[in-house]
Amino acid sequence: MHVNWQAGTSKGLTGKFSVPGDKSISHRAIMLAALANGVSRIDGFLEGEDTRATARIFAQLGVTIETPDAQSRIVHGVGLHGLRAASANLDCGNAGTGMRLLTGLLSAQAFDSTLVGDSSLSQRPMARVMGVLQQMGAKITARDDNFAPLHIHGGQSLRGCDIDTRVASAQVKSALIFAALYAEGTTRIHEPRPTRDYTEAMLKALGWPIEYAPGSVTVHPGGQLNAGQIRIPGDISSAAFLIVAALLVPGSDLVLENIGINLRRTGLLQALQQMGGEITLFNQSEAGGEPVADIRVRYSVLSGIDLPETLVPDMIDECPIFFVAAALAKGRTRASGLAELRVKESDRIASMVAGLRAMGARVLETEDSVEIEGGALTGAEVDSFEDHRIAMSFAVAAQCAQGRTLIRDCANVATSFPGFIELAQAIGMNLVVDTSGAPQ
Ligand code: S3P
Repeated sequence: MHVNWQAGTSKGLTGKFSVPGDKSISHRAIMLAALANGVSRIDGFLEGEDTRATARIFAQLGVTIETPDAQSRIVHGVGLHGLRAASANLDCGNAGTGMRLLTGLLSAQAFDSTLVGDSSLSQRPMARVMGVLQQMGAKITARDDNFAPLHIHGGQSLRGCDIDTRVASAQVKSALIFAALYAEGTTRIHEPRPTRDYTEAMLKALGWPIEYAPGSVTVHPGGQLNAGQIRIPGDISSAAFLIVAALLVPGSDLVLENIGINLRRTGLLQALQQMGGEITLFNQSEAGGEPVADIRVRYSVLSGIDLPETLVPDMIDECPIFFVAAALAKGRTRASGLAELRVKESDRIASMVAGLRAMGARVLETEDSVEIEGGALTGAEVDSFEDHRIAMSFAVAAQCAQGRTLIRDCANVATSFPGFIELAQAIGMNLVVDTSGAPQ
């Protein structure tokens, strides 16, 4: 379905609100609760298309999942060996996390499975998970050895090993961890740069023998998972759009409540603070073992920076909205080490460069870097390339641009941020669904 948005200049953003639950944690909560012994309750679950697809897949694999109310799930765990073969393909929709983590888990089952996804997911590289899982003895076949549909051959016996992931990817690491739960022997994983550690933290909380530190994980075999209560904080990757909008639109003063601030996710806050952004964290506490805080953001005059490359993995999903901040800051911003952006829901360097140029920004790109000259933006027609984070990034850019902006193909925002338009409107963003029948 084609949904376009119309956006224009905002007069200021104010309010105090929360955002939907963390997508990464929501996927993992369903998966690990399904493998636990006993009944788990999940609160703060993201009612997005990606995470609902994961819940549907576990129902196909024989797990009973109830929805007592929106944003909650009761999962009747079947134990580590209780999943059953599905009678149809398992559809991950748009979700790379769902597909890659499930590839690890299903590689270790006694039965065969086939994972499919939408047109974007079917073009995203899967060899990165297949290669490392094959080192453990998994058998997976894929279109052109790299793309979904993925056929996972069950009944293999997996061996624990020492593996260097080579790519800094929490999805690759987590796929290995899921397989390692079933492997004979210990599995040790090393990453080139530390990535988000939610799989590790949740496994530990549910009682699995696992040790981890930034950049390395050791998973011991022979454990079991005990059902528990899982509370999911607000997703900082969703909050990011509103944080940047508030920094950029004069007169803004926003408070976002109960946002997850795991160190591996807060690179954007550091980058924006380096640019001069007034962002304060308060009411810091813990929810479900994760650090959370309320975040206050006020309009600030931002200056361009050279983004430290070490921050990139900690803000990997926030790079598009960071580019918007850079395009409206004073002076030049340079960022490198961005190659992973080319293989997200869209090629996020190409998508952002095209739209920002259409809005009048001066941007240079190489294969893995960008250089953005800050200045004024003008409304334009831009394409989201059916990528949720690109759509929301341009909705924010338009709040500070002169004239109106049409953003094409925004339906996929429902994968990660259901209710974005309504929330954006409530806090003062100038954004509506386009009903003009503009060519699609
Ligand atoms: C995720 C890891 C990251 C991130 C994605 C969610 C996860 O992907 O971009 O949105 O939940 O593990 P990579 O592992 O490909 O970096």
